[in-house]
Amino acid sequence: MKKLLLIAILSTSALFAQVKGDIEVPYISYPIKMGKGFNTVQADCLMCHSFGYIINQGPQSRKFWSKKVEKMITHFKAPISKKDTKVIVNYLFENYGNGKLK
Ligand code: HEC
Repeated sequence: MKKLLLIAILSTSALFAQVKGDIEVPYISYPIKMGKGFNTVQADCLMCHSFGYIINQGPQSRKFWSKKVEKMITHFKAPISKKDTKVIVNYLFENYGNGKLK
């Protein structure tokens, strides 16, 4: 009997754990800088993830960005052509670069 009571209490307690009212999930949009090559970045990078990953890196060197794009291609199989890679690295360095080549 006690067991039954316990099961009854436990199975109803979940109801009390509910949150009253609507839950709002915040929508976070990442503002990306517009610049030469942006369209290519949008087409080649946005297919897998948001711009958040790019913005969160902070200002980085040209080598850093070049390695990152390479990583996307070799590790994650991003279908990005050699021509696009150049455009993207230029864009990233121009807009999210720290002025250093290495
Ligand atoms: C084929 C899918 C795919 C494409 C296309 C892609 N990425 Fe990624 N990217 C990933 C994955 C997967 C991760 C790792 C996510 C994690 O670790 O949680 C990632 C992570 C990142 C990171 C975070 C740092 C790191 O080293 O993990 C950066 C920066 C990044 N991507 C930049 C880019 C850029 C720039 C492009 C466009 C040239 C791009 N990605 C295109 C799949 C992709």
